Amino acid sequence: MNVPFVDLKAQTESIRPEIDEAVKRTLDRCDFILGGAVSELEKNFASFSGCSEAVGVSSGLEALILALRAVGVSAGDEVILPANTFIATAFAVSATGAMPVLVDCDENYNIDASAVESKITPRTKALLPVHLTGHPCDIEKVLEVAKRRKLFVIEDAAQAHGAEYKGKRCGSFGDIGCFSFYPGKNLGAFGDGGIITANDSALAEKIRCLRNYGQKVKYEHIYIGSNNRLDTIQAAILNVKLKYLDGWNDKRIKNAALYGELLKDVKNVRTPSVLPGCRNIFHLYIIECDRRDGLQKFLDGKGVQNGIHYPIPVHLQKCYESLGYREGDFPVSERLAKRILSLPMFPELTAEQIRYVASCVKEFYSS
Ligand SMILES: Cc1ncc(COP(=O)(O)O)c(C=O)c1O
Repeated sequence: MNVPFVDLKAQTESIRPEIDEAVKRTLDRCDFILGGAVSELEKNFASFSGCSEAVGVSSGLEALILALRAVGVSAGDEVILPANTFIATAFAVSATGAMPVLVDCDENYNIDASAVESKITPRTKALLPVHLTGHPCDIEKVLEVAKRRKLFVIEDAAQAHGAEYKGKRCGSFGDIGCFSFYPGKNLGAFGDGGIITANDSALAEKIRCLRNYGQKVKYEHIYIGSNNRLDTIQAAILNVKLKYLDGWNDKRIKNAALYGELLKDVKNVRTPSVLPGCRNIFHLYIIECDRRDGLQKFLDGKGVQNGIHYPIPVHLQKCYESLGYREGDFPVSERLAKRILSLPMFPELTAEQIRYVASCVKEFYSS
């Protein structure tokens, strides 16, 4: 049996007539730049996330850069983020000219919120926690520190569309939430895209200007902006897909429960936990395991696609040598990087496929 890591084709085919219709409508209207579907998606996504504002942008990375710029982060500032994240989180900080300041992660792959305060200096301007894998970070603690130390909070919710912490959705806690619509995300476009959420209309308005050449009125440039707009055609597709997202997330949760049940007695494997009060929407299903590289090869040979998210923590990336971090600085992130493996996870994954993957994992450890 072959089990893909994600199956974009299966998802597209399940809603194909609606997608075709949405694309056709855009082609008929020709409102390709900031057209009707963009404002429609912004309204729908704001409501989905429990926010008053949403601004469509060109990618998750650009969402983060715009968010940091909007709260005034620039050269000379510091921004605190986890060492265990996709590189975009750190690159966004670097793109503003500010310095990324790293913190280790907890056993749940997210920022160790208890370690944040010790990293604050007079230069710190913002905290940039990530809700990695679809599990909310300890956002309550992050917000408490930020409030006391008067810092902005930008949530990197690129992997957390619909994830919840104590009944509230990720992206609605901080000053700004940033999402990616990269095709493999829980809500994915047919190309690049992203969105920013906020509850402050002035801040959202500033981001609307920044993403569109710094203008509110055509050819009147209030800010030195850029072109970071979300394509109308992508927004039209995302409007269709957004209606299904809660259901798709429920299916991921069900799939994770089945994996958990099947793997619970494998003592070489730690399955992901869901902390109390959290809704983990399982963008990724990551196991921590012994002999990871051997298991990965074995699964490859069995037709089970898999991944490592992520093999090198940010502080050990070549491009960040100049930050001066060393091996041993963030032991949890470093240990996980050597021991984690992401198993196939997507809503359309069947029970039969999950059983097959779990049986392969068991076979590896029994040999
Ligand atoms: C945690 C995280 N942050 C930021 C991004 C950047 O998003 P994009 O690829 O849309 O630029 C991604 C996804 O790729 C991500 O997983």
